[in-house]
Amino acid sequence: MLTMKDIIKEGHPTLKKPAKEVELPLSNQDKELLFSMIEFLINSQNEEVAEKYNLRPGVGLAAPQIDVAKRLVAINAFDESNNLHKYMLINPKIISHSAEQTYLIPGEGCLSVDREVKGFVVRPRRITVKAHLLNDDGAVVSNTFRLSNYMAIVFQHEIDHLNGILFFDRINKTNPFSVPEDVKPIEF
Ligand code: NI
Repeated sequence: MLTMKDIIKEGHPTLKKPAKEVELPLSNQDKELLFSMIEFLINSQNEEVAEKYNLRPGVGLAAPQIDVAKRLVAINAFDESNNLHKYMLINPKIISHSAEQTYLIPGEGCLSVDREVKGFVVRPRRITVKAHLLNDDGAVVSNTFRLSNYMAIVFQHEIDHLNGILFFDRINKTNPFSVPEDVKPIEF
């Protein structure tokens, strides 16, 4: 199983470079990687398991964060209505996004960043993503789907990892809490 020691931290070169497209059909190795990534997230959100293995809770993990420069992402997150969104994504791509933007009041955090970074990360409120998805039974399907609000932010944060971007790269350097006029935060 993956633990914190498998997760590389800011300053590591793999986090700064674009990851490679994954070839389909998905290899068994890549399947197992995605299964281990989603397992990590589920473990990290289970209080007992997280305490036992000293895991920081996370809702998303991109392969570059475990030093694998491939376009693979696991997401296990609850939206504002407390619905679970569980995804094992292969080559996810944002094909369109809203002009309307939003941000999270507490800012963003990252398993690869062991410090609190203050500031708002302003992102499109709605996105359309095209991806291949790995199911629990090992099947891979292609899909295009829309995400909004909190889930749109989680997806954008993770897809940024595939492009060598960390959340603080998107925080305004001179005025970290400035947001454009009319941009409203996510409401929970
Ligand atoms: Ni991150």
